[in-house]
Amino acid sequence: MSNSERIEALIAQMTVEEKVGQLGIFADALRPFAPEVNPEANARGAAEVRAGIRAGKIGALFNGVGAAEGRQAQRLAVEESRLGIPLLLGADVIHGMRTVFPIPLGEAASFEPELARRTARATAVEATAAGIHWTFAPAVDVARDQRWGRGAEGAGEDVLLGCAFARARVQGFQGQAGLTADDCLLATPKHFAAYGAVAGGLEYNTVDISEQTLRDVHLPPFKAAFDAGAITVMSAFNDINGVPASANRWLMTDLLRGAWQFPGLVVSDYTADMELIAHGYAADERDATRCAFTAGLDLSMQSGFYDRNLASLVASGEVTLAQLDASVRRVLWVKQQIGLFDNPYRSLDPAREADPSHLAAHEALARDAARRSIVLLKNQGAVLPLKKTGQKIALVGPFARDTKNIEGCWTLFGDRTRYVTLEAGVRAALGEHAQLIVEDGCGLEEPIDGGIEAAVAAAHASDVVVLAIGEPQSYSGEAQSRTQIVVPPAHQALAEALAATGKPLVVLLRNGRALALHGAVRKAAAIVVTWYLGSQTGHGVADVLFGDYNPAGCLPVSFPQDSGQQPLFYNRSRTGRPELPHMREFKSRWREVTADALYPFGHGLSYTTFEYGPAQLSTTQLGWDQTLTATTTVTNTGEVAGETVVQLYVHDRVASRVRPVRELKGFNKIALRPGESAQVSFQLDRSLLAFTGMDLVCRAEPGLFDVWITDSSANGTPVQFELCPPKG
Ligand code: GLC
Repeated sequence: MSNSERIEALIAQMTVEEKVGQLGIFADALRPFAPEVNPEANARGAAEVRAGIRAGKIGALFNGVGAAEGRQAQRLAVEESRLGIPLLLGADVIHGMRTVFPIPLGEAASFEPELARRTARATAVEATAAGIHWTFAPAVDVARDQRWGRGAEGAGEDVLLGCAFARARVQGFQGQAGLTADDCLLATPKHFAAYGAVAGGLEYNTVDISEQTLRDVHLPPFKAAFDAGAITVMSAFNDINGVPASANRWLMTDLLRGAWQFPGLVVSDYTADMELIAHGYAADERDATRCAFTAGLDLSMQSGFYDRNLASLVASGEVTLAQLDASVRRVLWVKQQIGLFDNPYRSLDPAREADPSHLAAHEALARDAARRSIVLLKNQGAVLPLKKTGQKIALVGPFARDTKNIEGCWTLFGDRTRYVTLEAGVRAALGEHAQLIVEDGCGLEEPIDGGIEAAVAAAHASDVVVLAIGEPQSYSGEAQSRTQIVVPPAHQALAEALAATGKPLVVLLRNGRALALHGAVRKAAAIVVTWYLGSQTGHGVADVLFGDYNPAGCLPVSFPQDSGQQPLFYNRSRTGRPELPHMREFKSRWREVTADALYPFGHGLSYTTFEYGPAQLSTTQLGWDQTLTATTTVTNTGEVAGETVVQLYVHDRVASRVRPVRELKGFNKIALRPGESAQVSFQLDRSLLAFTGMDLVCRAEPGLFDVWITDSSANGTPVQFELCPPKG
């Protein structure tokens, strides 16, 4: 019997109640559970979950962990339910399992999708060893407003970078050995769609954008994830132009299954179907069930709405049996794709969970990912790298010794016993002759008695101050929108006091978003963005601080001059009154600040210097169906080896819709020894110049284009080419 015949035979045997049962996913009350990451809703205890599984009324569980306990849950489904349909076991395994890697936004700063593929792969090995088949990741939301807290989970403000990391993370989670492999972790790009465009950066807020922006900015990372092999997707909480994503037929049926031919399942975000009532889109739970299900939402998470209402909707004919079967077929197909019918106990092997043999390699990877995610924003007077001997160092700040703000948001299963603090990393780097004083200086959010005085005294007794401040990790992630994207006042006060000592100040930022840097923080001699770097934080930062690794990260999000500059993103429209250096009146700017970023997308310094030669084009007349090559020569003009991210940007000068002042169309990180040069080339054809027109057709338009090959979205000298119209 073929797989599809097997699924059809199963569907033919299933009662309506059993079919509905396959469309419900609930919190896993049968095994150790993740810390509360969702509001309480429709809570079900272990006995009720066991009974539901035996009755064939639960198709999947989430956020439980443990192979042995997972095996017991699976045995209930396979051996004690009437048809023995296996459970799908999901979890929020976003950027690491026991070994924790940098938050996804931090990894995006590496501009190394291959690194993200490797960390996702390591995550998959650990998660599937712990009894998890399916992760609700990667988050692929493009976020252009840093007041929103969930940019931390994505790849930043740019769609090309977002696509590259979406693709890499799906490949990493799912692996190359096929979906039935024991260490394949099924991926779920989320949140479908445009969750990152919530108005005002206000969590769960409405999304009111043009279909052109939806198609050109927010949808491509999902398409990239599907093209990379993702067969599940999670629907978002937000509405899109007034229609909630989780009941959006255009999105989940016409586009996803019609235009894109997506074969897999759509799982709702947590109680997102229930929230249709609060949205004012459904009158009651039965109406909400009908709206969500008929729009294309297969799996209802936690609300119990499908459980309570779907069978009666089928009985009344508001939902046809064919529609119900189509949804069940997709869920059974996914379970069959990952091999659960042939091997229901895959990824439920306690012996593999207990095997520590991969941990050393994963920790080495975590250290490498940590240092590659670090962005050096400023390094006045080459105050960095620090010396390991002959230099007295004061390590100050609430994050100096901290272990509770190392992992970042959405870390549910991290092994905290293996976390390396900043102090531990610095001491390990300095060895027994460390001339190091460590002071907290202030609390996580509040001053501490005598804290500033002790920190100032430490500064006076030292040659340089390293100040570890920023956002407590609770400030980013879900339901953490902020109006002022700054460091807490107590941190700012500590920075001001330390700056007043006159000692060189190195600020280590800990952050889940771009921040507005003010006063002594902005004026510090050196500013290092360290995000939340995970298990190996201390070693990764120390490697950069002391020059054992030359930083090469670049900003995936624009750092503003002020919190009021949101949304802020580099690929914005020029407007009819762009500010010009010599003309500031009646121009597109704020009274307080210009429209520019303080540190723009793509910016990142090194301990060496690089010289970029002029961009050279293989032709200045690009035929409609031709490809041109854009090349530059990059030289390491400094004293140490280093890496630089070579970035290709284009601007369409005149088009039927105004086009961004720049758009990233390629990037390539290269390593160069001192004095070494390398040629870097990019291929450009009209597919990279296409955009969605007023007629909603995606196409390029003939005309003049500017091209930059440079090291940030604000640098470089453009050269021009013309895209010639099609012949005939
Ligand atoms: C949360 C998040 C989603 C997560 C889900 C399950 O509310 O929005 O990203 O996967 O619920 O925990």
